[in-house]
This record gives sequence, C-alpha cells and structure tokens, in this order.
Amino acid sequence: MTKLKISGGNPLFGGIRVSGAKNAALPIMAAALLTDQDVFLDNVPNLADVISMQVLLEEIGVKVFFHDSKMHLNASNCHNLVAQYELVSKMRASVLVLGPMLARFGKAKVSLPGGCAIGARPVDMHIEALKLMGAHVYLEDGYVIAEAQDGLKGCEIFFDKISVGATENIVMAAVLAKGTTVMHNVAREPEVIDLCNLLNKMGAQISGIGTDVMTIVGRNNLYGANHCVIPDRIEAGTFAVIVAATGGDVEIYDCHPAHLESPLHILKIMGAKIVTGHSSIKITAHKEKIVGANIATSPYPNFPTDLQAQFTALAAMADGVSHITENVFENRFMHVNELMRMGGDIKINDNMLIINGMKELKPAEVKASDLRGSASLIIAGLSASSNGGETTIGGIHHLDRGYEEIDRKLSACGASIRRVD
Ligand code: UD1
Repeated sequence: MTKLKISGGNPLFGGIRVSGAKNAALPIMAAALLTDQDVFLDNVPNLADVISMQVLLEEIGVKVFFHDSKMHLNASNCHNLVAQYELVSKMRASVLVLGPMLARFGKAKVSLPGGCAIGARPVDMHIEALKLMGAHVYLEDGYVIAEAQDGLKGCEIFFDKISVGATENIVMAAVLAKGTTVMHNVAREPEVIDLCNLLNKMGAQISGIGTDVMTIVGRNNLYGANHCVIPDRIEAGTFAVIVAATGGDVEIYDCHPAHLESPLHILKIMGAKIVTGHSSIKITAHKEKIVGANIATSPYPNFPTDLQAQFTALAAMADGVSHITENVFENRFMHVNELMRMGGDIKINDNMLIINGMKELKPAEVKASDLRGSASLIIAGLSASSNGGETTIGGIHHLDRGYEEIDRKLSACGASIRRVD
C-alpha cells in the first residue's frame, strides 16, 4: 500500500500552480447529461473523484474523452439511467446525476450514498425538491427511483438549510423543467456559480446567480458549450496553510484570491504576510511567529468546512489557544486523533475544538481517514522538526481524491515528501 514519507522542518520557497476545482468539475461533468450536443471543458483536474465521475457517466452511456486537463463529453446516447451503489458509495457527488437525468429523460435510478438512509447522511433536500417539481420519487433496495414521464414542472422551493449539492442538483433539474422555478436559500459557493455559468452558456436561463435566490426559466432543450473550470480554492487555501506552518515565501498562482477572503483573513491574524494579485497569492511566514485564532465554519462566503482540518493542524503548532467550531458537518474531526499522535494538544467539546498550540509537532506514523484530514497530516508532517525522524502517512488514496500531484508540487518548493510502497 502506498504511503507518504515526510521529513519536516524545511521552509518552502518558489511557486505552486493551482489546479482546476474538483467541486466545480464534478457537477459540471454531470451537466453534460442535459444535452445531446458536445460539451468541451478545460482545466479539469486529474483526480480519483473526476475519474469516478467519468466512469459513472460512461456507464450511463456518455462518451468521455479526458486528456491533459481537457475533457470532451457527449451524452447523445444514454442507455442506462442508473448510478450503481459501488460508485455512489465511493463518491457522494455521484448523486449529482439524479437531477439532470430525471430532467432530460424523465427517469433516474441512483443509489443512496454509502451506509446511509435518508435522514442520516441525507439527500432528503434533493428528493423533497424534486417531488415539489412533480416527480414521483420512491426508495427501493437502497436506490432512489425518480420518475417524471411528463417532465418536471417549475415551482417555488424553500431550502431549510444551505446545501451545495441540493442547489446544484435542483438547478440542473430546473433548467429543463416546464415553467419557472424559484429557489430560495441556495448555496453561493464559487463552484455553484461556475456550474450556473456553464448552464447559461448551454442556453439555460438562470438569474440571481451568486445570491441566495435563483430564478430559472425552464427551456425545452440545451446546447453544447465550451467552459474552463475555475481554480480550486481549497487546494490554494491548503498551500497557503502549508507555507504558514513551515515558514518560507511562496507564490500560489492560477487561483482566485477573492474566493478565499475569509481563510486569508484568518491567516493574516495568525501571523502570515499575504499579498494578493488578480490571480495569485504571495505568502511569507516565519513559523515561530504563527499564533492561534478562533474560527467557525459555515457556508460561503464564510470560512469553508473544507479548510477546517488544515487550520486545525496549523493551530496545533501555533503559539496560544485556538477555538475551531465546525457548523456544517457533524463528526468532521477524524483527523484530531492523528494530530494528537503528533503531539497536538486538542480537546473536542461537542462541535468545537480547543487547541493548545505546541510550537513544535513531532513526526509520527499516522493514517488519513478522509480527504481534507489527509491534507492536515501533511501540514503537520511538514511543520514537525525532522530531529525526531520522519512522518509516515497511510490511507493516502483519500488525498488522491482531491489533490492533483500535491507531493510533486510541494517537492518543487523544497519540501521533503515522497511516496513509498
Ligand atoms: C459539498 C462539497 C464538500 C463540502 C460541502 C460543504 C462537493 C462535491 N462537495 O458537499 O466538499 O464540504 O459541500 O461546503 O461539492 N444536508 C442535508 N440534507 C440534504 C443535503 C445536505 O441535511 O439533502 C446537510 C449535510 O448533511 C451537511 C449540510 O447539509 O450537514 C451541507 O451539506 P452539502 O452542502 O449538501 O454538502 P455536499 O454538497 O455533499
């Protein structure tokens, strides 16, 4: 099994390019189901999750060609309107094929995400909204089966809470519905905006993009389009945290600093010097000057849950006490025990972490159990002094779901990080 070996303590210098956003690419690939014409994408990251979505679309009958960050999709011959358990359980974003398949073909069968029923780790908001649009939706043998033989109908939808996935699924359903759909309390994440911009290029009529109410006038059919996926703000934010934790001077380029206002503000409070350009972030830091901070996650434009684990690692090596509150997901603290093995002094109090910064973490053998948690272990490993030996990180298939060539990008800036079997 492949592991990462890290010898920490080196400050980083140079430049790191940010790849296309995984969380934009996945719904955008699903949007190709809405037309029988060609969709051409650029800046698609080569990640395990993108390949999982490619395989899922190919099983449905979509032709997908993916080479060198360019992707060409054609859904003119969809013959199998099913998303099997095996793929959906690997990647929850597979559920994003439900809305577009139902809207275009009048039926869809999609497995519930792994190990959960509606209500536990739910897709209840997706399903309730499709029912409001006139779909007949029922559960059978762990699958959501949705039918709308006469097409979906526009309606008014009020989401109880903000959900990125539900916003994306329902906007993809609404673009081919009859009449107008008004969606209230929608997600405003840059990835949602990127999807909506592509849909409008395909001939959809969506207004209110980037606000919390979107209005969609349904069309009979959509067309092909060309689209360049936005840069990955979580990858960019992860690199910024790494430089704060190791010290050094790095330019993170091909990114949108405007998408990272809240995390960059926190990094400044924690002692990093940050200068942003139009598409770059220059970060300079002395690791011994990093101090603790208080952070609370919530939907965009606030602090992203997808950077909580990385900032937890930074807080663990900072000077002083930090409080980090997780408001989006329950039980998103799987990385904490591993950071404690590296000397972190962290207490879990309900949905809040109380972190007593240690100034210096220790190398250890640790195991990643989720995507962003694996990035937090890299941060801790690179920050730890190499006096105590190397950090070995197992479970790095989680990392490869969401970070394109992270070890190569960091090595080019002077990090000692390598894969071993
Ligand atoms: C997306 C991102 C993920 C990010 C998350 C929150 C993708 C592929 N993944 O996940 O990286 O961490 O947004 O920014 O874009 N919920 C319900 N019922 C539903 C749907 C969601 O209760 O029907 C709850 C979830 O359990 C969670 C909260 O709503 O507590 C937010 O989840 P959601 O925004 O839907 O996350 P995802 O779209 O799955």
